[in-house]
Amino acid sequence: MILGKRVRLRPLEREDLPRFVRWVSDPEIRAHVAQYKPLSLAQEEQWYARNLEAGDTQSWAIDAHREQTTADPWEHIGVCGYHVIDWRNRSGEVGIIIGAREYWSQGFGTDAMQTLVGWGFNTLNLNRVHLHVYADNARAIRCYEKVGFRTEGCLRQANFHNGVYRDALLMGLLREEWRSS
Ligand SMILES: CC(C)(COP(=O)(O)OP(=O)(O)OC[C@H]1O[C@@H](n2cnc3c(N)ncnc32)[C@H](O)[C@@H]1OP(=O)(O)O)[C@@H](O)C(=O)NCCC(=O)NCCS
Repeated sequence: MILGKRVRLRPLEREDLPRFVRWVSDPEIRAHVAQYKPLSLAQEEQWYARNLEAGDTQSWAIDAHREQTTADPWEHIGVCGYHVIDWRNRSGEVGIIIGAREYWSQGFGTDAMQTLVGWGFNTLNLNRVHLHVYADNARAIRCYEKVGFRTEGCLRQANFHNGVYRDALLMGLLREEWRSS
C-alpha cells in the first residue's frame, strides 16, 4: 500500500476491472479523459494482461477510507498512475480518475494526486511530473493547483469533443517546488 491521508494506492486487481468499465461508460467521466469511447470488459482485461506482462506497472487503484467503519472501511473509488516515464530525464506523466462520482469535490482526488506525486519524487526518484487536462475541466485544474502543479502551456484546439475543438493545458510540477504536506 502507498498511504495518503484518507486514501491508499494499491495494485489493481482483476476484480477491479468491471468497476473501471462502468466508470468509463459514464459520458460525464469520459468527457474529461482521453478514453473517448466506452470499453468492454474484454478490452479492459486485455489491457490488464498486457500490463501484467510488462512487469513494472505504475497504475494504482485508489481506495478511500470511509468514516462510517464497516467490516472493510476501504472503498475502491478510482485509478491513477504514471502512463509514461522517461527514466533518463527523470520525468513522468500522470493521470487520475475518481470514478465514484459521489466522492467528487471532497478532497480525495487531491489526496490521491499528492500521494502519487510523492511516490514519484521520493520513491521513483523523478524530478518532474506533468499531466494534460482539458481546459474546461475546472475541478481537475483546481485539484492539480492545490497539489502545486503550474500551467506550463496551452495546446490550442487539441481535442475534439461534442462537435467542437477545445484546448488542453500542460501542467507540471518540479521536485524542488513540491511541498509534501
Ligand atoms: C478531477 C478529479 C480527479 C478531482 O478529484 P476530486 O476529489 O473531485 O477533487 P478535490 O475535491 O480534491 O478538489 C477539487 C477542487 O475543485 C473545486 N471545484 C469543484 N468543481 C469546481 C468547478 N466547477 N469550478 C471550479 N472549482 C471546482 C472543489 O471545490 C475543490 O477545491 P477546494 O478544495 O478549493 O474547494 C475527479 O473529480 C475526477 O476524477 N473527475 C472525473 C475524471 C477527470 O476529470 N479526471 C481528470 C482528467 S485530467
